[in-house]
Amino acid sequence: MDIYPSFDQAIPRWRKELVLNQSAKIIWFTGLSGSGKTTLALALEKSLFDKGFITQLLDGDNVRTGINNNLGFSEADRMENIRRIGEVSKLFLNCGVITICAFISPTEKIREIVRNIIGEEDFFEIFVNTPLEVCEKRDIKGLYAKARAGYIKNFTGVNAPFEVPESPDFIIDTSKYSLEECTSLVLKSVLPLVCKPNSLSCKVSR
Ligand code: ADX
Repeated sequence: MDIYPSFDQAIPRWRKELVLNQSAKIIWFTGLSGSGKTTLALALEKSLFDKGFITQLLDGDNVRTGINNNLGFSEADRMENIRRIGEVSKLFLNCGVITICAFISPTEKIREIVRNIIGEEDFFEIFVNTPLEVCEKRDIKGLYAKARAGYIKNFTGVNAPFEVPESPDFIIDTSKYSLEECTSLVLKSVLPLVCKPNSLSCKVSR
């Protein structure tokens, strides 16, 4: 292949992180449809931004209408969906940006793909462990009803698998706490990762 990547000529990530006064990380929410991933991701982004951090949010429904609008929900398409998101996230990471991703990412294999692209040290996995019954009861998009009625094939939790993450970095069940409580718990787990060590502004104003 006549391709000559030259990543080493770019301004390095650490210099961008210095300017932004933050450590970039990928915050990866995994969980069933309706578990609260997007809501929590939005709330986390707002909280971090209010504290002066620069963030980027990537979310299933948005990404699937843009860069991944040619992908469906077969195992192969979900793998490709997450692979591309992993590569896009890595670009943001290298810009020093805290990147918050909310995707069902239903299997260990799929989550392994993105973890390998990003690298273990920059990947923080949050399992939104809201029970299926609760997600189904919420059914905000009406998709569980459609899946149960047989109109949607391969719907996660109904007729496609969701594998519980083996060793997530953080677990939250949104049926047990209010949104404010969930956000505060998640924020508490994320802040130490994204604050620069000994950053005065992190200790004082953040
Ligand atoms: S993933 O499995 O490839 O990670 P992703 O997070 O991008 O999924 O997209 C999930 C969203 O697509 C759901 O929140 C839901 O709105 C919609 N959707 C449509 N069909 C399906 C399906 N068969 N399974 C799961 N989600 C679906």
